[in-house]
Amino acid sequence: MDKVEIVEVGPRDGLQNIPDFVPTETKISLIHAIADAGVTRMEIGSFVSPKAIPQMKDMDAVVQGLRPMPNIVKMALVPNSKGARRAFSHGIKDLEMVISMTDGHNNSNVGRPTSASLDDLNYLLSEVDPEAKLNLRIGLATSFHCPFEGLTPEATTLYNIEKMLTFRSGLEFALADTTGMATPQAVKSLTKQALKHFGDSATFVFHGHDTSGFGIANILAGLEAGLRSFDTSVAGLGGCPYAPGASGNIPSEDVIYLLHRMGMQTGIDLEKLMLASDIAASIPSAIEASHVRKMPRETALKLAQVA
Ligand code: COA
Ligand code: ZN
Repeated sequence: MDKVEIVEVGPRDGLQNIPDFVPTETKISLIHAIADAGVTRMEIGSFVSPKAIPQMKDMDAVVQGLRPMPNIVKMALVPNSKGARRAFSHGIKDLEMVISMTDGHNNSNVGRPTSASLDDLNYLLSEVDPEAKLNLRIGLATSFHCPFEGLTPEATTLYNIEKMLTFRSGLEFALADTTGMATPQAVKSLTKQALKHFGDSATFVFHGHDTSGFGIANILAGLEAGLRSFDTSVAGLGGCPYAPGASGNIPSEDVIYLLHRMGMQTGIDLEKLMLASDIAASIPSAIEASHVRKMPRETALKLAQVA
């Protein structure tokens, strides 16, 4: 039976776009509930400028309030070396550095062109990493489409991947459909190209948003192209505050429900994950987008029982 990894990004991508401050205790409860469901890798938040993303201003307190979670890889997003050092000071070594494939979004998101973020990455790898021994993932934002520049040429994303692999091989890359405008064909095509050219020296995951309603179709396209790791968010919360018009991530429960119904394993207990989804969906001003939440829960859980 095929095993597929679901990387839960709700506590980061899900929460970052919510305008009202979510209390630290709620963030911690959400993370614990996700961990209780058997998720093995989760983005717990981001070490970013509190001016850029006020929602993440309590990140230090969130990390300090977490119970030990030995079976889960805690990942955090960072935009620069300062963020990486903050994460490392908490013992968090699995980092996602976000770099947009288009200058328009990179300028809007982190205040510099893509090439400057590549320099930051190189600096991080050469200056911070020798001490920290980080596991680094690069979030390739706007891999498919940019809110400011339109469709991203495949060659641009591939060129940037190649360049980053000259800094270090063995990186993980998230092919990110930041705006949720990618088609399944685009996901399949870029994934195939990435695996063909760099599959021996890097690993890849797909990070999708569901703006166009293609989210689940894009997951299937990624699966068909050979991916076995996907970012999703409980209740479908999410979105980048610096990508106008983007809606939430693909809901974790919808993806797990589908994969289990297709006979694939995720190792996640859907019933317990729905308790985390309940917490996410009850956050004031959160926009939930889950299909499974609309189904009679007993029916959904029964149908999704792993054989
Ligand atoms: N964590 C906390 N504070 C940070 C920081 C980090 N990772 N990086 C920079 N800062 C602080 C600086 O210390 C400085 O503080 P001061 O004003 O008190 O002196 C201030 O932020 C400005 O620093 P500067 O280097 O000039 O950054 P900037 O204002 O150009 O912002 C980023 C650049 C990258 C820090 C900011 O745009 C950012 O955090 N973006 C994240 C966007 C994001 O998370 N998007 C969603 C995910 S895709
Ligand atoms: Zn995202």
